[in-house]
Amino acid sequence: MLRKALLVAAVAVIIYKLMNVVIKAGVFTHYKKHYPGPCRQIKGLNYGSEDLEVTKDGLAFITSGVSYAAMSTGYKEFLQRNGIKGRIFLYDFNEVHPEARELQLVPSKDFNPDYFHPHGISILEDSVKGEHIIYVINHAEIGDEAVEKFKFLPESYKLLHLKSFRGPLMHITNDLAIIGEDQFYISDYLYFKDHTLSLIEQAFLPFGLGSLLYFNGSDFSVVDSGLFSPNGMTLSKDKRYLYLSLPALSTVNVYELEKGNSLVLIQSAYLHSMADNLHLSESGDALYSGAHPILHQLVVHLDDPRQPAPSSVLRLPLKDGKIVPEDITELFYDHGDLISASSCAAIYKNKLLIGSVINKLVVCDVNADIV
Ligand SMILES: *[C@@H]1O[C@H](CO)[C@@H](O)[C@H](O)[C@H]1NC(C)=O
Repeated sequence: MLRKALLVAAVAVIIYKLMNVVIKAGVFTHYKKHYPGPCRQIKGLNYGSEDLEVTKDGLAFITSGVSYAAMSTGYKEFLQRNGIKGRIFLYDFNEVHPEARELQLVPSKDFNPDYFHPHGISILEDSVKGEHIIYVINHAEIGDEAVEKFKFLPESYKLLHLKSFRGPLMHITNDLAIIGEDQFYISDYLYFKDHTLSLIEQAFLPFGLGSLLYFNGSDFSVVDSGLFSPNGMTLSKDKRYLYLSLPALSTVNVYELEKGNSLVLIQSAYLHSMADNLHLSESGDALYSGAHPILHQLVVHLDDPRQPAPSSVLRLPLKDGKIVPEDITELFYDHGDLISASSCAAIYKNKLLIGSVINKLVVCDVNADIV
């Protein structure tokens, strides 16, 4: 009798655990499509716009063709089959009919554009000459992970390579947030470069192997560790708060910056959705995020990018530096036919720009009162 009871209990626990996995993967989740206004795909940008940042003068700098060692074989084959290279595009909101323009990368002795696989991007703005300084994470094919520093030449649409930053604390990095010239926070996203080990790291380990790093102009240091695949990040307008997305936990961490650039965690906001990159609104009172609402479809898409995955854009209102979870709204949802696997979003003057991991770039007209 006891043996039977134990068996029933064991089966019940296993079913419960399995159901949890199935539910977390979003197998029973269904969303309805909604756009904030008319949306269109931007021509010529078909293979990714993983991260972007918009300057105050309305220029969006967009990284395209993300690839790193821990990606699946199917993903890498897709890149190869389509001859996808790492590139940076510019989208100018001020133009009447804006399209994406590829920026020419000017090499240096430390930087070869043939081995460029850009990921997160952050900008130090130059409001006088418009010669913005662009920092980009590069999963270089040869050599180590690097942060590349470029100067944007607005007359010739060139990115002049200035410097590379590298360090042994960088494993597979994801995004960065610039705080001053050559000073930034950077998310060390994954420890393992092998695809299978990295899947185990992301889905099955009881502790995180990721960390949050700080670079002070000469050295990297760890400011938070034990994090589950820390991803997109951005700073508040007054640079007092740092927002870090942990999509594997459907959470965004909010840190307050202390003297010496150490951090104090003040909030872990649960989103019920996997927010990827984060961007601050023009006014600074909200964050926008491209999010992955249905996990199992994202997993299939990252294994074979021809399979669609849904896209969602979230607006996370901020109050006293913190996210207000009960006031989060979804500005956009698409099943994946207009844009698959949205990874970032930004709004400039009532236009919503949405980027994706390895798919389209979309722009939507936005009704002013929802911004
Ligand atoms: C940066 O950090 C390193 C190691 O913590 C320290 O030795 C160095 O003085 C710092 N540099 C600056 C410019 O603060």
